[in-house]
Amino acid sequence: MASSRETARQREPPLSDDARTAEQKRAAARAAAELVEDGMRVGLGTGSTVAHLLPALAERGYERLRCAATSPATERAARGLGLRVEALDELGELDITIDGADQIDPQGWLVKGGGGAHTREKIVAAAARRFVVIASAAKAVPALKAPIPLELLAFGVQHTLDALADARLREVPPSPDGGLIADYLGAVEEPAALAARLSATPGVVEHGLFAPQMVSLILIAGGDHGQTLERRTGAKPAA
Ligand code: 5RP
Repeated sequence: MASSRETARQREPPLSDDARTAEQKRAAARAAAELVEDGMRVGLGTGSTVAHLLPALAERGYERLRCAATSPATERAARGLGLRVEALDELGELDITIDGADQIDPQGWLVKGGGGAHTREKIVAAAARRFVVIASAAKAVPALKAPIPLELLAFGVQHTLDALADARLREVPPSPDGGLIADYLGAVEEPAALAARLSATPGVVEHGLFAPQMVSLILIAGGDHGQTLERRTGAKPAA
């Protein structure tokens, strides 16, 4: 029998796409916050999904949580909520990093960097024993496609763009580390081959392709109210 809460929900009018997406992001973020225990060292990603994670963590009222942020925006927001944010190098190995994604393919490859923070995000994800990805249903795609975010060294950037053949600078400020944000616009086809090619191009500081080996768990929320939660296990051991 349906509970009274489910019945009330069924009577509610459907949400607009924006409201539905926000509910899904919130649900995925709250599920990830439940994986965090007091005393953990936590990597905080960047973006609108992580914006739901920060209050969910702050609400837990932990006194011994230590966090590292992937962007100045996340650092400010986390501090504003009373979370303790320290330099990544002060924390050593992180227990968990939680971040959003722009695209998630069936093999667990991610595209990140919609906010241009993918270089720091990759470092903070790799610094953690568990990397947990949180997303709304629309982020799950059958195959990755361009744009693939890039951070490029400013020196000789035209040569780098020429070598990439199909890439364009984004009209956004440089990263906090001085890199120029760009997008690779060519075909993706085989993510591993493209990741290797982008990494091997001189002047590419980092690209936004994250391999399944980096990911421990993917939480994808669906439904109008984020009421369905798909858990995909990644290839990174979650010891
Ligand atoms: C920022 C990122 C974000 O995680 C990604 O763009 C997803 O953002 P959102 O949660 O706002 O959809 O990689 O560089």
